[in-house]
Amino acid sequence: MIPIRRNASAAVRFEAATSSYQQAPGVVPDPRPAPDTPAPPAESYEPADTEAAYVSRETPTREEDDPPLAMEAMRAVQILNPSGEVTMPRPERTRVMCVANQKGGVGKTTTTVNLAVALALHGNRVLVVDLDPQGNASTGLNVPHHTGVPDVYDCLINSVPLEDVAQAVEGIPNLWCVPATIDLAGAEIELVSVVARESRLDRAITAYPGHFDYVFIDCPPSLGLLTVNALVAAQEVLIPIQCEYYALEGLNQLINNINLVRQHLNPRLEVSTILLTMYDRRTRLADAVEQDVRNHFGDKVLQAVIPRNVRVSEAPSYGQSVMTYDPGSRGATSYFEAAQEIAERGAKEPVSRNG
Ligand SMILES: Nc1ncnc2c1ncn2[C@@H]1O[C@H](COP(=O)(O)OP(=O)(O)OP(=O)(O)O)[C@@H](O)[C@H]1O
Ligand SMILES: [Mg+2]
Repeated sequence: MIPIRRNASAAVRFEAATSSYQQAPGVVPDPRPAPDTPAPPAESYEPADTEAAYVSRETPTREEDDPPLAMEAMRAVQILNPSGEVTMPRPERTRVMCVANQKGGVGKTTTTVNLAVALALHGNRVLVVDLDPQGNASTGLNVPHHTGVPDVYDCLINSVPLEDVAQAVEGIPNLWCVPATIDLAGAEIELVSVVARESRLDRAITAYPGHFDYVFIDCPPSLGLLTVNALVAAQEVLIPIQCEYYALEGLNQLINNINLVRQHLNPRLEVSTILLTMYDRRTRLADAVEQDVRNHFGDKVLQAVIPRNVRVSEAPSYGQSVMTYDPGSRGATSYFEAAQEIAERGAKEPVSRNG
């Protein structure tokens, strides 16, 4: 059990746990050679299981960037799962996962979209709730979200049922999206004067008659009322952490907010999953961040790590996830692995949701 989730002194401990950049005492020393130490032979960097290393890490060499076509095709078929078989175990109850990190650009939306598509392609019924006025998740899933389209704002402010605004995602069976239009930008302020303002989304999700295996809520990069609504509606928080120095800075604040929501509004809430994103194996900092995050959050951190991969960033401009845009790419394979881990963990430790 990770202490940060449970008590008020968590922030202090988290500072300690994340301070190895300053070589704080008690922190495992950096095993890498000093800059002027001659590099060991190249093969000593190769992990024993090259297959596993291949799928979870972006690597610098040209050959590894372009995996053999046959292997790529095989992975693509595995990811697209044309048979429609249920290959990722479905949870006993709906898992509502809030994808949150108030830092911008860390991969919340990319993670939401790709995990949702991966799980849906493998037999799970998935709903994505776009709770960010930027509407990036709606764009990534190619769901219309221009002004005038019924959206999550209508559900939060005007009590419109979610099923009236959810749209089926074209080309992906089992996947629906509640879009966000620019209207949502006003919700943060309008919610202040609405009854039960923190639990509007929770009520809407609970009232949704269709059964989902997963509901992913893509949060905006802030800790305002929209994010609070997501935290109240969820049982699980998934925190994407970008493998760079500043990525860790705002985490205390996020964890404190999660603790407050747990104490006052949603006792079942827990940080269940941490996903390292935009990992660049070429930088030592990425390793240091990974080590710190794993030391602190333990097995909440998924083994799968998402590499920085150009296919991942190209996909949204085609209204696609990387899973369908380039299913043989390393970005797709890594998100597929992350989804599989999440599904398997959920099957082992069923999470409950009322109703
Ligand atoms: N693994 C990756 N490799 C390369 N680019 C990535 C990767 N993941 C995300 N990106 C790109 O980084 C940018 C930020 O990602 P994303 O929009 O998912 O972050 P976010 O946390 O949702 O941002 P915001 O806080 O603004 O909502 C996007 O342009 C996205 O395409
Ligand atoms: Mg986003």
